[in-house]
Amino acid sequence: MQATGLANDHFLRALMREPTPYTPVWLMRQAGRYLPEYVATRKKAGSFLALAKTPELATEVTLQPLDRYRLDAAILFSDILTVPDAMGLGLRFVEGEGPMFDRPIRDEADVAKLGVPSRDSLGYVYEATAAIRRALIGADGRQRVPLIGFSGSPWTLACYMIEGGASRDFPTIKTMLYRRPDLLDRVLDVTTRAVIDYLSAQIAAGAQAVMLFDTWGGVLAHDAYRRWSLGFMERIIAALPKENEGRRVPSILFTKGGGGWLADIVRTGVDAIGLDWTTDPVAARRTVDGRCALQGNLDPAVLFADSDAIRCEVRKVLAAFDSPRTPGHIFNLGHGISQFTPPDAVYAVIEAIHEGSPGPA
Ligand code: CP3
Repeated sequence: MQATGLANDHFLRALMREPTPYTPVWLMRQAGRYLPEYVATRKKAGSFLALAKTPELATEVTLQPLDRYRLDAAILFSDILTVPDAMGLGLRFVEGEGPMFDRPIRDEADVAKLGVPSRDSLGYVYEATAAIRRALIGADGRQRVPLIGFSGSPWTLACYMIEGGASRDFPTIKTMLYRRPDLLDRVLDVTTRAVIDYLSAQIAAGAQAVMLFDTWGGVLAHDAYRRWSLGFMERIIAALPKENEGRRVPSILFTKGGGGWLADIVRTGVDAIGLDWTTDPVAARRTVDGRCALQGNLDPAVLFADSDAIRCEVRKVLAAFDSPRTPGHIFNLGHGISQFTPPDAVYAVIEAIHEGSPGPA
């Protein structure tokens, strides 16, 4: 496909635990409502879903944070709920309430109808991926930064598919887990196959790293996490193409609330683990012991502080990871950036990262 090289591959190098001149950084949800230009493009699209389903506009918003900040990776603009949407559950976003499904999965008959979505039904995602790759080519003919593809984890997708929307305590899926584990197994099995196909197609379309968002893995009981979330993610990691365009396609696994399970997570063979802000990086480094890279983990609420406090907190994160001296750290937030973040706070984060180490070319 694109024969051009990368002008900046520090993110991919850090994922492979290779040395980099400074700590590469990107932010979860870096294209989003905290940016006025995003709000303007969403308005033009009419809705969030229309924005995500129009490759041209998805490309536009993917590039917005890169044009503003010195970020080291782009992330495909899409959503984890595109997969259950393509499975026919009827996705809607209700203002102030978040995502909702018209046809949640509740019984045997609902489960029987589930299948792996056709590549066509998610074609807009793969078209956006390819369009973003083209748009990332800079004036010098090289790709500015690598592009990350992503998916929800089977457990996290099933949380939305079964609850029918956002939830605090997840009573419906947990009832199914303890009363009808056979049914939940079937939901997770088909979702796992769907995610393998989804991420493989994103890689074929040009995604250069992939991330699994296991946003709700942390609500599982200690011994249930392996059985109901991690095991399915392990299957996905094992099944994905490991190389494309002559280069390794690294995988990142992020379980929010998963800081106590790092020893299990590292055994999946994943290239990097995303840490939320409650996890101690020093303890995490000891646990993974150089077997994978680590990504994270500034508390997103730090971006509500003044620039001196932001600098101080960023330095603490870098020191805890011994980054960039010890290779294998990618700076990120411990969860998605808040829609109420002042855009200037992101400049303060990125400046603090580049203090004391040479900035990007
Ligand atoms: O990181 C990026 O810039 C890429 C884009 C991205 C979005 N969603 C865009 C989006 C990514 C990686 C996601 C992942 C996602 N979506 C997750 C996992 C990560 C996490 O935050 O834990 C989850 C749980 C979802 C499901 C989802 N989509 C929720 C709960 C919401 C918020 C609903 C609301 O109104 O607050 C969304 C919508 C969504 N996805 C928005 C964006 C920018 C905001 C929608 C808008 O513009 O109105």
